[in-house]
Amino acid sequence: MNHLRFNLNGEWIEERGLSPTTTLLRYLRDRRGMTGTKEGCAEGDCGACTVAVAELGADGKPTWRAVNSCLLLLPMVQGKHLVTVEALKAKGDDGYHPAQVAMARALGSQCGYCTPGIVMAMFEATYRTDLDAPWKLDDQLCGNLCRCTGYRPIREAAEVVAGSCPKDRFSESLPRSAPESMALSYEGAGQRFATPATFEALWSELDAHPDARFVVGGTDLSLEVTKKFAVLPKLISLEALKELKTLTEVDGGFRLGSGATVSELEDFCKERLPSLHRMVRYFGARQIKHRGTLGGNLCTASPIGDLAPALLSLGATAIIRGRGGERRVPLDQFFPAYRKTALAAKELLAAIEVPRVASSARAISYKVSKRRELDISTVSAAFYVDTDASGRVTAARLAYGGMAATPKRAANAEAALVGQPWNEASVAAAAKAIATDFTPMSDHRGSAPYRTLVAANLLRGFFDETRAVKQPALVGRHAATVQTAEEVARG
Ligand SMILES: Cc1cc2nc3c(=O)[nH]c(=O)nc-3n(C[C@H](O)[C@H](O)[C@H](O)COP(=O)(O)OP(=O)(O)OC[C@H]3O[C@@H](n4cnc5c(N)ncnc54)[C@H](O)[C@@H]3O)c2cc1C
Ligand code: FES
Ligand code: FES
Repeated sequence: MNHLRFNLNGEWIEERGLSPTTTLLRYLRDRRGMTGTKEGCAEGDCGACTVAVAELGADGKPTWRAVNSCLLLLPMVQGKHLVTVEALKAKGDDGYHPAQVAMARALGSQCGYCTPGIVMAMFEATYRTDLDAPWKLDDQLCGNLCRCTGYRPIREAAEVVAGSCPKDRFSESLPRSAPESMALSYEGAGQRFATPATFEALWSELDAHPDARFVVGGTDLSLEVTKKFAVLPKLISLEALKELKTLTEVDGGFRLGSGATVSELEDFCKERLPSLHRMVRYFGARQIKHRGTLGGNLCTASPIGDLAPALLSLGATAIIRGRGGERRVPLDQFFPAYRKTALAAKELLAAIEVPRVASSARAISYKVSKRRELDISTVSAAFYVDTDASGRVTAARLAYGGMAATPKRAANAEAALVGQPWNEASVAAAAKAIATDFTPMSDHRGSAPYRTLVAANLLRGFFDETRAVKQPALVGRHAATVQTAEEVARG
């Protein structure tokens, strides 16, 4: 298709000539005069711009997802059904949506600037069927800031509607709201945006436009538009390549498609890869997790990206795909230098393969940041230590983020452990060796000595936490990914 087409509040809309890097937020406000959706930060942090999009759930059925419209470029909603706050009140006397009623009754709004975004996050919660623990409500709302009401009344309102699944026009229209094809070859305002739906179409697009950049969720790349006002001339979205989205069990482990969103990864990893799951739990907020992808996280090659340390510790392999087929690169060779990947021109990251974690191994990942939600790691760490029957370390992978120009394993600390008994003395020696592995930088998040100390303490904490249970799940909702051995034992 060569024009933009999406369903906005029940009406199909077609657009031509618009810049493909117009954000959905700017489109709604500037072009359609729909000013209910607010702009706060324009970088995914405040949630004021939240709208709902019908996406296919793991069961293959459409489900409402709250997303940040400030980070969605218009072609990213191609063929999809959107709901904005304007649609919530029914025409005539049918009144307001339960989320709006609950907010009003709980006195959850004062100046009201954040309210539409909060109501849209609650809109998703209204139709979710998996909000079965109190912390999940916090998790649902943590992408929305309010500066004047205070969060207690807002949370009380969320408690009223979460999982209530009313039979209304939104639940009734949902089965008919499955996304149409996203395939697109669009030009507007001198910019190009293509969304190939097959690999053949992708290779042709790359042959014709070898200078185009990939995008998937846009939670990283869109910031170039909203913060740096960049005019990106050519983009290729990988979002319509279904093969990239699959999360499957394979011989000896798991194949994680690069296009899987962080939310999808969270559901998949819960039982299968508890160490990765812990990191994913503290990754951004609901709206970011619904758009951000595994591939996008790794391909930014950020030294503080959260998924790389967890995957490095698990011994993952990157599956790289080009026109000639796939090639495999151990993840610890995927980041050759600061912000660089092992991808060659016209290649993409197709998937990550992760071996199954041996039951004899200890494995956990940790994230240390100034805030629990929506914060960038100061230091992150992920550890995998296996021992033999006598308790000697047979394998150690200690991976860190925020300690070097790339996500990196602590080679000296690993060497200090292998062959040694897994006890406090060996861990102390390895913790000491970490200072020789890294020369971290000092910045506003933490000084170099602080980072080095935290890195060593996380290893000590890992030893403590895995005393009773080797791969403990995170209990409840913690102030951080760290928990004590006593908490693990309490369960
Ligand atoms: C508010 C906010 C909170 C965030 N919180 C966190 C957090 O807690 N932890 C964290 O680690 N990150 C966080 N991020 C960063 C970001 O959300 C993640 O890195 C996310 O996983 C990026 O995925 P994406 O699909 O949106 O990437 P995009 O923005 O679509 O792409 C990012 C880059 O990767 C390239 N790319 C994407 N997929 C591929 C592929 N398959 N092959 C080759 N190249 C590819 C693109 O060309 C682009 O250069 C946050 C971002 C925001 C805005
Ligand atoms: S405007 Fe703040 S998250 Fe979009
Ligand atoms: S009611 Fe004013 S910011 Fe929330």
